[in-house]
Amino acid sequence: MSAHVEERRVTLRDIARKAEGGERIVVVTAYDALFGRLVDEAGVDIVLVGDSLGNVVAGFETTLSVTMDHMVYHGAATRRGVRRALLVVDMPFLTWQAGEAQALDNAGRIMRETGASAVKLEGAGEESLRAVRALVRAGIPVMAHIGFTPQSVHALGGFRVQGREAEATPRLVEEARLLEAAGAFAIVLELMPAAVARAVSEAVTVPTIGIGAGAGCDGQVLVLPDLLGLNDAFSPKFLKRYASLADDVRGAVRAFADDVREGRYPAPEHEF
Ligand code: KIV
Repeated sequence: MSAHVEERRVTLRDIARKAEGGERIVVVTAYDALFGRLVDEAGVDIVLVGDSLGNVVAGFETTLSVTMDHMVYHGAATRRGVRRALLVVDMPFLTWQAGEAQALDNAGRIMRETGASAVKLEGAGEESLRAVRALVRAGIPVMAHIGFTPQSVHALGGFRVQGREAEATPRLVEEARLLEAAGAFAIVLELMPAAVARAVSEAVTVPTIGIGAGAGCDGQVLVLPDLLGLNDAFSPKFLKRYASLADDVRGAVRAFADDVREGRYPAPEHEF
C-alpha cells in the first residue's frame, strides 16, 4: 500500500459549511502549476484561475483580451499544482452572453479540459442569470461576481469603486439575491463600500467573497502577484502586500548577473 495519502479535495459542501459556521473563506488566484502548488500547500480554501491573468501574466491592458484558450491552458496548468483546494476557473469575456448553448459549450470545455470544480462569471444581467441557471442545471457549479466587474471596465467608466450612490445598495442586494436564486454557490463582491458589501452579505445565504469590499464579507480574495508584492506597479487602497517579491526578484537577478560578469558563478562546487 502506498504511504502517500492524498488529502481530500475541498468541496462545495465544505465551503458552504465553513460559511455557515462563521469561518472566513480564503481565496487567492493562481495561474500555473508552481504557484498553484504553493498556495495549495499554504492551505487556502479556493484557488481561482482568474482572467486577471490577462493583466498580471499576459500584460494586456484589460481582461477583454483573454480567450478560452488562455483560460484552459492556465486552468489545466494550475490544476496540476492544486491537489486539495477547490479550483475555480473564470469564464472570459463574451463566452456565455450569446445564449445557453454557448455558455454550456464553453463552461463544459473549461470543466473537461482543466479539471476545475466550478466556473466563475461576471454580472447579474439577464444573460448572466440565464447562464448561471443553465450551468447549474447541467451540474456545473458557478461562482458569481458583482460590483466592479472588470470585463465591463469600459461601460463602468474605468477601475472605480461601485455602489457609492444611495440607490446602489438595494440594486446590489437584488443582484445578489437573483444570483443566489439562479443557483450561484458564492458571490464575489468587488470594489464597493464596506457597508454596501455587508448589506449584500446579510441578504444572501451563499458566501460572499470580497475584494476591496471591506470586512463584512464571508471571505476574501486577492490576486496573488498583488498579495506577494510581485506586481508592484499596482497599489489600490484595499491591497495589503504580504511580501515584496518584486524587490527580491530584481535583487536576485542582479546578484546572478554580477556573479556571472565577475566570474564568481559557477564556482568549483557547482561544477561536475
Ligand atoms: O480575475 C480575477 O482574478 C478575479 C478576482 C479579482 C476576483 O475575478
